[in-house]
Amino acid sequence: MRGSSEMQGARCSAVRLLLLSCCVCAAAGYPFRTPLDLDVTPRITVLSSGLQGCRRFQSSAVNYSTMLLEADSERLYVGARGAVFALNASDISASSALTIEWEASPEQKRQCLLKGKDNKTECFNHIRFLQRFNSTHLYMCGTNAFRPLCAYIDEEKFVMSSQPEEGRDKCPYGPTTGYTALIIDQQMYTASQYEFRSFPDIRRNSPPPTLKTEDAPTRWLNEADFVGSALVRESLGSSTGDDDKIYFFFTETSQEQTTTYSHSRVARVARVCKGDRGGRLTLQKRWTSFLKARLTCSLPEYDFHFNMLRSMFVMPGHTPQDTLFYGIFGLEWKNVKASAVCRFSLTEVQEAFQGPYMENQDSSSKWKEYTGKIPDPRPGTCVTDTLRARGINVSTSLPDDVLDFVRRHPLMSQQVQPSDRRPLLFRRTTDYTHMAVRMIQGLDGQTYHVLYMGTDEGWLHKAVEVEGQLHIIEELQVFEDQQPVDNVLISAEQMSVYLGSSSGVVQLPLSNCHRYASCYDCIFARDPHCAWNGAQCVDIMALEDRSTLIQDIQHGNRGCENTQDDVVLRSRTVRVGDDVLLQCELSSNLATPLWTLDDSELQGYGLNSGFRTGTDGLLIIEARQDQSGLYTCYAVENNIKVAIVSYNITIRLDLPPPPPVEPTEDYYSHFATLLPPTERPSSERPLPPPPAPLLPHSELLTPRNMEAVYLSLITILGGLCVVLTVVLVYVGFCLRVGNRGKYSLRAAAAAYPSSKRNNKNKKQHRNSSHMELKTISSHCNGNGVCNGVSKHQNGGIQDGGFLQIVPGEGHTSPNKEPPPPAPPLPPTPQHHSPECDFPSGLSATLPSVLRRMNGNSYVLLRQSDSENTPSHSYSFAEELNRILEKRKHTQLLPRPDESSV
Ligand SMILES: *[C@@H]1O[C@H](CO)[C@@H](O)[C@H](O)[C@H]1NC(C)=O
Ligand SMILES: *[C@@H]1O[C@H](CO)[C@@H](O)[C@H](O)[C@H]1NC(C)=O
Ligand SMILES: *[C@@H]1O[C@H](CO)[C@@H](O)[C@H](O)[C@H]1NC(C)=O
Ligand SMILES: *[C@@H]1O[C@H](CO)[C@@H](O)[C@H](O)[C@H]1NC(C)=O
Ligand SMILES: *[C@@H]1O[C@H](CO)[C@@H](O)[C@H](O)[C@H]1NC(C)=O
Ligand SMILES: *[C@@H]1O[C@H](CO)[C@@H](O)[C@H](O)[C@H]1NC(C)=O
Repeated sequence: MRGSSEMQGARCSAVRLLLLSCCVCAAAGYPFRTPLDLDVTPRITVLSSGLQGCRRFQSSAVNYSTMLLEADSERLYVGARGAVFALNASDISASSALTIEWEASPEQKRQCLLKGKDNKTECFNHIRFLQRFNSTHLYMCGTNAFRPLCAYIDEEKFVMSSQPEEGRDKCPYGPTTGYTALIIDQQMYTASQYEFRSFPDIRRNSPPPTLKTEDAPTRWLNEADFVGSALVRESLGSSTGDDDKIYFFFTETSQEQTTTYSHSRVARVARVCKGDRGGRLTLQKRWTSFLKARLTCSLPEYDFHFNMLRSMFVMPGHTPQDTLFYGIFGLEWKNVKASAVCRFSLTEVQEAFQGPYMENQDSSSKWKEYTGKIPDPRPGTCVTDTLRARGINVSTSLPDDVLDFVRRHPLMSQQVQPSDRRPLLFRRTTDYTHMAVRMIQGLDGQTYHVLYMGTDEGWLHKAVEVEGQLHIIEELQVFEDQQPVDNVLISAEQMSVYLGSSSGVVQLPLSNCHRYASCYDCIFARDPHCAWNGAQCVDIMALEDRSTLIQDIQHGNRGCENTQDDVVLRSRTVRVGDDVLLQCELSSNLATPLWTLDDSELQGYGLNSGFRTGTDGLLIIEARQDQSGLYTCYAVENNIKVAIVSYNITIRLDLPPPPPVEPTEDYYSHFATLLPPTERPSSERPLPPPPAPLLPHSELLTPRNMEAVYLSLITILGGLCVVLTVVLVYVGFCLRVGNRGKYSLRAAAAAYPSSKRNNKNKKQHRNSSHMELKTISSHCNGNGVCNGVSKHQNGGIQDGGFLQIVPGEGHTSPNKEPPPPAPPLPPTPQHHSPECDFPSGLSATLPSVLRRMNGNSYVLLRQSDSENTPSHSYSFAEELNRILEKRKHTQLLPRPDESSV
């Protein structure tokens, strides 16, 4: 019964979600908006190849899942599979790494295999615990192929200082079992479901007596999956710390069924008193202070309940009372990617533990608030001076009725609400795994929280909180191969953030202000570490005199009014009837392009206007003479227009066809950004003979036809967009879909995870390998929704941001000059160099209609920076790339007249 009602609840939520999504989709078009605008787009995207100041540590070991870095420490300790490392915290890639090898014995591995465990993942010694024991020693525990062991490490020599000891009560058996542990005053607190069949348990292992949680008559923990724990020194004015508590964070199966929710898993916080010694008769060797409460993180108006707690970052405040808990939550549906970040204050948590208890009446599964008399002293409180004054010196002298009440009432009735009663952030398409937060004072004197959040795909999102909302400053691809970030640590001393994953450890600077090329770029970024000094974006930490710096974290748009950025001006002369693409790439994912012609805004880039805007530029279709003039591209962000590039376009009727071009170095350098590096002629390589159209050319195509083909291409792409939207909405309940209109190709690629990231644009990498498709899209009318392609780094437009495309060659039109012969480009390489590896034979899988677009679609080819395109990716976008790659050889006109840059 209970199960089916749960199922029904889940199904209802799903249906509601689906309906909601569809309504929103219908209202806003494909890139539907997010509840409360919490689904924030990272402002800039940086691929791993564009990371600056990045240091990596890798070894033959894998699974760098445990990390320890103490304040002032020069060493970063890392526990991996079968080894522990001591790295130089200021440069983890330095060769000075110290290593302790600690593998499970072959015999132990054999027994592990006999137990039916996986010898590729589980039958190893995964270091699960690594913390300081005393001033000279560390303590660590490893799974030891399903027979856990623990050992001391002599810190100075970095060697194991004793024989490993039994770890069965301190360490889980497997590498993925939920686990958290702390050493406090040489006592070890652990929480896990240690062995497969055992109940989950919160323990204090030493010194004796071992305290545990209770299983009967009321089970205190239900299939709990632990993610974190922390000591909070709450004792006020006490020298003995007798009110200090240890908090545990986990997800468990809910016992209470109420009418308002029927979720089977819930996020919890539990706590015990550090001074607990257990009871004497009742609750002997059990906690007398165990209480738990629900953590809520939801958007109730949309019926989104983030019940799965993935990780918890505990941020100490100025006083223990100011402690904050930052949790990463997910939905229960496993196939749905979504994350929410909720922040809880210690005060809220304490209030729940001060409030009413829940009661399980007559052992049915019905839980409700307990309204009867509560025994005195209040059950679950720590033994402090107040109790001692009443003659209760330790928990063993607590009265039986109090202990019996504690045993039966572990759950509090009040739920812990996050600050502002809603998530700080909600993101579809991203699964955050771990995070770390630091406080930093901005130039406005305010304290800002900067969040560093790792994802399940090896990315790092850095965000700043402004008035309860997160602004994601940047997303960085830290690990090129998709893999979850297992650990995030921040060191203020080293000004670094460290990330551990299965393949290695990465150290990144906390900020990279030089990435922002202009005053507005610096201001829009809203990174509290960065400010504009009049000439460049600088790290404020490095500066003594901050009086002249410009920063605006609050609004991200003030202070640059008087700064002048140079705008690149290019001049071009083209012939009437040509199609001209004026390239303009916006570095920010949050910016939208705006074009002006002779200072008046270009209106309505509709199908008949003769213009199209896309993510990468403006297209003038069949240019007319009256379209000559000065075109300027602006990036509009935060309601501010910033000019990026201007083109002085002269459109002439009488332009002679370009003379047959002698290919020159100059000619090729103009197309340098359009050609894979290996295709650039080198002095040793003689130029190949001129034009050999590489694609079969249909004689049946007339200009009219071509136009029709072009229109149908747009229609097809638009249709694909819609179809994919529907499919994605259906499959992922809208949650997998990109939060901004990442345009149909992006969406298409999202369905092919292997190519997902490759498709994300970028020009950080010049000597890279594969061609990137950018398409002018008619259904993205500059309202930002299709601005899905992000970029950045080199700041500004690369030379040659201009491409002229003519309708299918070989066709004359009465009012046009015949198109010039195709330029003599080198043939497509027959074999692929490692640098330029296009998978072969893919075009055969393309629908024929796409192949026929040869000759009249509007595309700009550009190198992307992914270094090794997987040759097995069969994404739609990449297939198109291939087609276009070929098409290029028949399409490109030689260098147009260029008089100034
Ligand atoms: C350990 O690393 C391997 C290889 O990188 C990976 O497949 C596996 O999922 C990792 N295991 C854990 C528990 O992280
Ligand atoms: C760590 O690296 C820094 C800079 O590379 C160096 O100055 C320092 O001496 C190193 N420390 C140790 C303990 O090797
Ligand atoms: C795992 O065990 C199987 C036999 O069950 C064996 O064939 C295989 O080689 C083992 N793999 C490793 C990595 O030890
Ligand atoms: C720290 O603990 C280790 C292991 O128990 C012990 O050998 C060592 O003497 C201790 N160090 C201090 C300073 O107490
Ligand atoms: C509690 O401790 C005080 C002194 O610390 C002692 O005088 C008193 O007898 C103790 N009471 C009990 C019940 O143990
Ligand atoms: C644009 O070019 C034309 C001729 O090529 C020139 O007369 C005009 O002054 C230029 N305009 C600007 C703003 O540079």
